[in-house]
Amino acid sequence: MPRGRSTPFGLRNFPAACARLLFSEAKRRRIRPRRALDLGCAVGRASFELSRKVPAVLAIDSSKTFIAAAKKLATRGLCSFRLNEEGHRTRPVRIVAPAQKIRGRVSFGTGDALRLPRLAPFDLVLAANLLDRVKDPQRLLQKVLPGLVRPGGLLLLTSPYTWSKAFTPSSRWLRNSFFATRRLLAPHFRLLRRQDLPFLLREHRRKFQLTFADATLWLRV
Ligand SMILES: C[S@@+](CC[C@H](N)C(=O)[O-])C[C@H]1O[C@@H](n2cnc3c(N)ncnc32)[C@H](O)[C@@H]1O
Repeated sequence: MPRGRSTPFGLRNFPAACARLLFSEAKRRRIRPRRALDLGCAVGRASFELSRKVPAVLAIDSSKTFIAAAKKLATRGLCSFRLNEEGHRTRPVRIVAPAQKIRGRVSFGTGDALRLPRLAPFDLVLAANLLDRVKDPQRLLQKVLPGLVRPGGLLLLTSPYTWSKAFTPSSRWLRNSFFATRRLLAPHFRLLRRQDLPFLLREHRRKFQLTFADATLWLRV
């Protein structure tokens, strides 16, 4: 935010908030997570948050560019780029990843969430803002996610349900997304919690997009 402006709506660090939701429920259920999956991890911010408490995190994204950036960050611990300020004006920014001991627990890989190889099921799975970016959300919910979470494990789904033909054919958009999600997950998952989780996307120094993701936390039965 511009200097001196407070952050609206109690906004916090979205990836850290996702990890916290998973960790607090795991603690409540006495789950000691050994393995976690961040599906649609982008450049890995949430993956690094998960690795603070989970010894092995697999982070997958379909974008080769994102995974290359995430790997660079994991190896070097630092990344520099220029942030758009206004028009042609940019300013340099340096981001610092957690210590090697933490970030070294994440393995990044390129992959399509809808066509993953066989993977041993995970204790914790995060699919943050992925649902409305895949070609077939029903397949993700019905066929993919049940196989990725071990019985007794947790799944955190977040989505603003921004359906767009750029990502998903309109015939495959979920209608009444929360209820459709609950119906499609129902045979394998029980809903534990639901809350709005806001996040902010920065376009330039004075322009931000505020979105409220629907965050739902599920127990694999
Ligand atoms: C809206 S971003 C969310 C990124 C991150 N999880 C977050 O919450 O900030 C969606 C991410 O999913 C990835 N993605 C889209 N389709 C995918 C697929 N079929 N398999 C894996 N990742 C995919 C995109 O490359 C992008 O990084």
